[in-house]
Amino acid sequence: MVAARPEPPQDPGYHLKSMNVDLRESWFLGGVEIPGRLVLAPMAGVSVQAFRRQGRRYGAGLVCSEMVSVAGIQHRNERTLGYLRVGSDEHPLAIQIFGSDPPAMAEAARMVEAAGADIVDMNFGCPVKKVTKTGAGASLLDDADLACRLVEAVAGATSLPVSVKMRRGVENGSRRCLEVGPRLVEAGASSLTLHPRSAKQMYTGTADHSLTAELVALVDVPVIASGDITSRARAQAVLASTGAAAVMVGRAAQGNPWALREIMGDDSEPTREEVVAELVLFMRETVRELGEHRATGFLKKFYGWYLGRGRFPRPFKQELVMLPTLAEVEQRLFAAAPGARFVLERLLDELPDPGDEVLLDSLPISIYGGG
Ligand SMILES: Cc1cc2nc3c(=O)[nH]c(=O)nc-3n(C[C@H](O)[C@H](O)[C@H](O)COP(=O)(O)O)c2cc1C
Repeated sequence: MVAARPEPPQDPGYHLKSMNVDLRESWFLGGVEIPGRLVLAPMAGVSVQAFRRQGRRYGAGLVCSEMVSVAGIQHRNERTLGYLRVGSDEHPLAIQIFGSDPPAMAEAARMVEAAGADIVDMNFGCPVKKVTKTGAGASLLDDADLACRLVEAVAGATSLPVSVKMRRGVENGSRRCLEVGPRLVEAGASSLTLHPRSAKQMYTGTADHSLTAELVALVDVPVIASGDITSRARAQAVLASTGAAAVMVGRAAQGNPWALREIMGDDSEPTREEVVAELVLFMRETVRELGEHRATGFLKKFYGWYLGRGRFPRPFKQELVMLPTLAEVEQRLFAAAPGARFVLERLLDELPDPGDEVLLDSLPISIYGGG
């Protein structure tokens, strides 16, 4: 239990409980300036470079890789190393690592820094058995001493700021994050992200952001609020009621960068041409990143995400999923919205040059680890 609640810090800057929080205002995570209060969530099986780049274009001030296995890094697993590819148009970017062995975490943090990330994020929130049974992810909330040793090891190994993303606790109703959070800050965390569901809840129920407000009052580092942020109204309400430095958006942005645009203040609905152009661009970038074979399977779930929400009739998605090649999918998409070719051309013209990617020794190009 948390005994006394200390006074909020005097001049924290990011703990502003104003009713009208400016989402475009920048803030600092450690020494890294984040140009805006909207953060794109790390999502395994989703947060490829194409997703992160798109997130940046639509207003996210910070993007994050999906969780990367420290054991995989240690064993120089080809697929795992692929997650460490950073494009020069992604910054600021956090790479998230998970594991339970301090020296291995420290080594992974050094690799993350060498890969060119701006922030090392540590996953203390994954509820999946495969991860928690190894002592990693959300199970660390039940072992605060080990959690602190991991943060110390990582903070000691890198000059980058270290952030931690966690759930409220393992059990339903748990308030463990309020005990562990301040200790993680003492151990060296420069920021905490809270997804205030229990690990047991997985994604059911609702995120209880009253806990986020309590955490904000307990620590003098920026807190990022994650969970159920689906609109500008919700983002403003959570920022105002919690004093969090930023809101993080996950599921609402899957196949829907326009949710980010709405949160940032532009609520115009995309045209069908815009939707198809963004999907085709996403497909091409994903092929470049994962290779044709992997991308073909990976992309299937995105068709429904992009084309749903009443944008296209449901059978259209089924049709795309059945097509054997991505070239045929692209053709079919352009047939459904011919004007999308021009929108895509314009998009390609406006795209920032990704520049040189930082590639670690022998880092393969076309790999993807799923998750
Ligand atoms: C498909 C999927 C994969 C996820 N993978 C990760 C992950 O790799 N690391 C992590 O910290 N959280 C992960 N999360 C949790 C999200 O980052 C976020 O905290 C959660 O979805 C709540 O936010 P939302 O309501 O905006 O989706 C994942 C969530 C989803 C839906």
